[in-house]
Amino acid sequence: MRGSRAVEQEAGVEKHGSESYFVVGEGLLAESAEGRDAAPQIAALAAPPPFRFSRMGPNGVNHQPGESIRKKVGREMAAGGGGAGQIPAGFTYLGQFIDHDLTFDKTNVMLGANVSPAQLLQGRSPSLDLDSLYGAGPQDPESAKFYESDGIHLKMGKTKAAGGFPAMDGFDLPRGAGNTTPQKRRAIIPDRRNDENLAVAQTHLAMIRFHNRVADSLPAAVPPAQRFTQARELVTKHYQWMIRTDYLRRICAEGVVNNVFSQGRKAFEVGVPATEIPTMPIEFAVAAFRLGHSMIRSAYNWNKAFDNGSGFLQYLFEFSAGGGNLGDATRLASDWIADFRRLYDFGEANKPNLEVPAAKFNRAMRIDTTLVNPLKNLPPETFGGPSVDFDDPRANLAFRNLTRARMVRLATGQQMATFLQGKGVSLTKLTKPQIRDGNNGADLSLLTQTQREAFLKDTPLWFYILREAEFNGGKLKGVGARIVAETFHRAIEGSQASIVRDPTFRPSFGPNNTTFRMVDLLLFAFEEKKALLAPLG
Ligand code: HEM
Repeated sequence: MRGSRAVEQEAGVEKHGSESYFVVGEGLLAESAEGRDAAPQIAALAAPPPFRFSRMGPNGVNHQPGESIRKKVGREMAAGGGGAGQIPAGFTYLGQFIDHDLTFDKTNVMLGANVSPAQLLQGRSPSLDLDSLYGAGPQDPESAKFYESDGIHLKMGKTKAAGGFPAMDGFDLPRGAGNTTPQKRRAIIPDRRNDENLAVAQTHLAMIRFHNRVADSLPAAVPPAQRFTQARELVTKHYQWMIRTDYLRRICAEGVVNNVFSQGRKAFEVGVPATEIPTMPIEFAVAAFRLGHSMIRSAYNWNKAFDNGSGFLQYLFEFSAGGGNLGDATRLASDWIADFRRLYDFGEANKPNLEVPAAKFNRAMRIDTTLVNPLKNLPPETFGGPSVDFDDPRANLAFRNLTRARMVRLATGQQMATFLQGKGVSLTKLTKPQIRDGNNGADLSLLTQTQREAFLKDTPLWFYILREAEFNGGKLKGVGARIVAETFHRAIEGSQASIVRDPTFRPSFGPNNTTFRMVDLLLFAFEEKKALLAPLG
């Protein structure tokens, strides 16, 4: 998805967001300086287009806040605080995993010579097809390394004995290729952004386990040559079902999600043939789906060894190979293996034996205009550096998001609300006092009177959407819910295995043929065993 991505991968540097956005019909929107206040510019298109973005609504030219406003608002947003939310904390990192699936450029794990122009287009397009898990499949010479020698199962890794817990097979991402320590540490997975923090890494591992279990559950009569393909299709459709019925309804007003999935889209790629290759709206990538940043906690009751809030966010970076260096090792330390019971509520699936006391359970932060304080000083590895001084805005995730929006001249919240209303979406615009005062969210009183007026008139989309959620009990509504639900609908439709294209599909790995939640996915993946879901006890 980024022009310079291949080079970055070789250097072992993985970043989360795009440095430049190829917007269909507009060209490559890039920036001349590192997340700073560079004027937006259209860069020359030298190479084949990277990831395909599009613009859903109007262009926000002349509506962008200046650097001083972005610095002040960014500082306030990441000052910490913010309400506790209701959503189990695991969904934060499931969201990050989903984001990586959507924005993954599959051509990075395909052997160059094998990539046809059609595959290039498909590979650099968003779809919820788990290519971040499967790469280009076991038959592709570049992706074969992610698979066991049977070409059916995905590889898993072994942890390293630590804290009195033995080395355990199947609880880390696969690693160990190459000779140097950094090479050995590197995860052997298609999208190494999924090893940027421990929570997303363990989510990726759960998906590997889910695939492997589904492959094992196929009838013996299925011939070996078809087992991978059949398993992949089942896994992908179950994953989409879970996103549609469980994930989305937790982060978005349920009525909007139901409306989009039953009545179809009103604003984004309306009426295109289902098989046409989708694009990703920048309004989603640069604003709406960055909602996840406000869900991140600064500390977790991670597991038995790192209990009572001692699983600090910094450690989740440290004990990954992308955001840290696995605590200076080449494999995950056993005492950092996730306890999924603390991240997802198995009471929802009537499994009281897999519930932990409320005090041990982790809930995500409320979706609102505040971010936890450590996100003001991100480790340089997570945004691609450079290393900067403490409190430099370039390491502030809120400032980066606001600046990225300016770079692509993103429409404001008000522009998008008007645009969506024009498309027949019914929504109520936020009032100026609502944007100004919020509901226990970021404080705008640091802005001067003139700055505040400008901000209330032209509110950056990301901020606007988070304010909407703040007034809706921590769930997206209005503009935010519409953008998210329509983009997901299109990304599911655009996948070759698709529950939108195949409305007869029903899940078979949950309690009945309409229910398949993240807890059901985990129960299946980890064989309903406490010893696997929480091996530290
Ligand atoms: C500890 C966890 C996370 C960290 C450190 C992180 C960090 C980042 C950074 C540094 C960027 C690039 C910012 C820029 O534009 O310069 C980014 C982009 C983004 N993040 Fe996160 N993020 C995290 C979790 C999440 C979650 C939970 C979600 C969603 C549920 C999410 C969604 C996104 C999206 C959609 C983008 C834009 C991607 C693109 O345009 O390619 N992130 N994040």
